[in-house]
Amino acid sequence: MRIDVVTIFPEYFGPASGAGGPLGVSLIGKAAARGDVNFHIHDLRQWATDVHHTVDDTPFGGGPGMVMKADVWGAALDAILSDKSRSPANPSTPPAAAASTSCSSAVEPSTGSSAADALATPRSIGDSATPSASPARPSTAPSAAEPPSLSPPSAGSAAPSTSAVPSVTGARLVVPTPSGVPFSQERALAYAGERHLVFACGRYEGIDARVVEDTRARGMAVDEVSIGDYVLAGGEAAVVVIVEAVCRLLPGVLGNERSASDDSFGGGGGSMHGLLEGPVYTRPRAWRGHEVPPVLLSGDHAAISRWQRDEALRRTAERRPDLIRRLAAGDGLDARDRAVLIQAGFPVDGESMAH
Ligand code: 6GU
Repeated sequence: MRIDVVTIFPEYFGPASGAGGPLGVSLIGKAAARGDVNFHIHDLRQWATDVHHTVDDTPFGGGPGMVMKADVWGAALDAILSDKSRSPANPSTPPAAAASTSCSSAVEPSTGSSAADALATPRSIGDSATPSASPARPSTAPSAAEPPSLSPPSAGSAAPSTSAVPSVTGARLVVPTPSGVPFSQERALAYAGERHLVFACGRYEGIDARVVEDTRARGMAVDEVSIGDYVLAGGEAAVVVIVEAVCRLLPGVLGNERSASDDSFGGGGGSMHGLLEGPVYTRPRAWRGHEVPPVLLSGDHAAISRWQRDEALRRTAERRPDLIRRLAAGDGLDARDRAVLIQAGFPVDGESMAH
């Protein structure tokens, strides 16, 4: 997978050498070293055209703060998407490119001509598709009108896509923003099946909305995504969060392949799907007078699995009742689950759960 990140703070992701920084550490760092993921970090200011490298301007309609300029973002995305090294004709990373595993400012600023032909094919498709596509996707409610706009995890970009907005560029633009659709484990799984993700880090009050509109109109899949109900100063921290959630799902990245499906939210559809993970223990059996729950030492695997599910149910009911309600609504609770929840004081019968 190739991951491009466009930001006015490239140093956030570590020195240009690629050593150090959050993308060089642990699972992501190893995946990058193996060439399973190639990061390209770009300084947005490369595409600013004035002497001050201005990337923002005052908002139309007034209001506080500044808005990032469409022309600068347009030039940046044109250049990155026209980079021939990311073409579908070169799906496997050639050895030379593998050296650029880590962070690099690999893409040159776009010139006028490369900007013009950057999305030549998408542009012609997008232009003809726009009139008929508009009624299906009203531009007034992009997130609501486009629920998943996700490819199935295993599909990759080459397989037939069920995506609401197939990406003719073979890349997906992800714009982190507090006003985006929620980032979730399902979305992480879907992104793990993509060949190319491009992250556009906004700062200030955000990016001129026409950048997303135009990129979509050219046929590229675009998601505006939020990592939670709080406001960050910019998208950079969100990109690190999303990249980590995605990269650990890449084939071969997680040492223990089973761990991903046992996670809280267990995207793999394991027995813990939709539940928070319960408590875990290791040696010694007794520590400061606290004993490990005896069932875990029993060797009775069925009893252990059941106990783990019970603990997950109790914890989820206490911390995330919304997840229990979702499971109940989707027929995800069996009779034993319901008994455990009732015993824990959580109402699980249809009527009381409705709200
Ligand atoms: Cl994805 N970006 C920013 N800037 N703030 C956020 C966010 C993203 N998710 C929650 N707050």
